[in-house]
Amino acid sequence: MKTKIVLLGPPGSGKGTQGEKLCEQYGFVKLSTGDMLREAVRKGTALGVKADGYMKSGALVPNDLIIALMKEKITSLDEGTGIIFDGFPRTVEQANALGEQVHIDLALNLDVNDQELIDRLTKRRTCPKCNAVYHLEYNPPKRAGFCDKCRSVLELRSDDREETVRNRLKVYRESTLPLIKYYEKKGNLVTIEGVGSIDEIFAKVKKAVL
Ligand code: AP5
Repeated sequence: MKTKIVLLGPPGSGKGTQGEKLCEQYGFVKLSTGDMLREAVRKGTALGVKADGYMKSGALVPNDLIIALMKEKITSLDEGTGIIFDGFPRTVEQANALGEQVHIDLALNLDVNDQELIDRLTKRRTCPKCNAVYHLEYNPPKRAGFCDKCRSVLELRSDDREETVRNRLKVYRESTLPLIKYYEKKGNLVTIEGVGSIDEIFAKVKKAVL
């Protein structure tokens, strides 16, 4: 089984959803830079204060901040830990920094068209406490408006408004798309069609991971 996995794909392609399922089924640790940054913003830490404006507009947080954050997280884990990297790396500079610290054995790219991405993100609801993710139609919570896992009130992420989503897609194409070629050259890229039910996609994800 692959143990160091990068999840690639545009905003809303299902990285968080599939990553969570891999953690539940196989005990991976998921390192999501988006979740870490949102927590830092909520707590008002120095990192959160610096990151807030970038995130609200859909821009990337500067590489040096992200690389330092992830270096520390990775160092705190045992070497044998199975890790899912969700939302990191997002630039070639971040990928180079990650490669110096960890040997990546799979880069899993979820391919989803823009219209579907916009529909998924504008109707996504997230739990601010445990980071669980729902969709109003495709993956609704059992009780409308509340997290199934921890019962907190669900939120619309501030960067999930349509205008910001469009900017995130532009930023993705400019800065993150080159990573597909980057991992292809390294010979560890697998691309999966990311449209279909969550379980159908998870079946394909498992095949790539096992
Ligand atoms: P981040 O939190 O990483 O956001 P993202 O990459 O834009 O990805 P998302 O969380 O929006 O989507 P996802 O692919 O995880 O999809 P999900 O599973 O939730 O980053 C946010 C911001 O932080 C960035 O804009 C940037 O500012 C900053 N940042 C983070 N990392 C950074 C880095 N490394 N460098 C610099 N800046 C960084 O699914 C989406 C929705 O679709 C959900 O509602 C879900 O229920 C639904 N869904 C999932 N699968 C399906 C399916 N198969 N069918 C139908 N619906 C589905």
